[in-house]
Amino acid sequence: MSQRCRVVVLISGSGSNLQAILDHPNTDYEVVGVLSNKADAFGLIRAQKAGIATAVISHKDFTDRLSFDQAMIERIDAWQPDLVVLAGFMRILTEQFVDHYLGKLINIHPSLLPKYPGLDTHARAIAAGETEHGATVHFVTPELDAGPSIMQAVVPIAADDDTDTLQAKVHRGEHKIYPLAVQWIAQGRVVMQDSQTTLLDNLPISREQLRQNYD
Ligand code: GRF
Repeated sequence: MSQRCRVVVLISGSGSNLQAILDHPNTDYEVVGVLSNKADAFGLIRAQKAGIATAVISHKDFTDRLSFDQAMIERIDAWQPDLVVLAGFMRILTEQFVDHYLGKLINIHPSLLPKYPGLDTHARAIAAGETEHGATVHFVTPELDAGPSIMQAVVPIAADDDTDTLQAKVHRGEHKIYPLAVQWIAQGRVVMQDSQTTLLDNLPISREQLRQNYD
């Protein structure tokens, strides 16, 4: 992309990943809008402090998912995004929404996908006796938490970890990989093609670099 990649971020809560994306030093992308489905999401304050346009569209104002998603599409498209980033956005999206942004819609999920899609990932990883856990940045496809993976942060699970300590570790990893993944997409280093993540051949990165260790 010759111009800076225009990024719209969708949130529902704290927005610590949004903050990491805002704080990342780069010249490849700019966050042009933040949309929340909750008026009290702290991430909206983070965005406003950074001088970024915000909008709230509450899912409660709509009788069905499709009309909610269509209202979001209208708002998001007015910001003319090159990339739409889900950062703790806690609504399930319709196939129509996902198809509208296919290839330019990414999410971060707090597990090493394909392990532990869905909720309560930290508790489930501990209960299963896993020795490592983490987070995955992936392209969004209509099937929940199943789109092609872009990057993972891996953290060790210590014997004395509980869901809070593990969640904090995973969060630290998320804050490192999510801005990096956004930057790589902004640079055109990584794209979704034929339902797979493709690293462009002429660029000096290997598949092994997609999985990085953080503690
Ligand atoms: C993160 O743990 C992310 O993996 C999940 O939602 C959480 C959002 O946290 N999708 P924050 O709002 O960015 O602090």
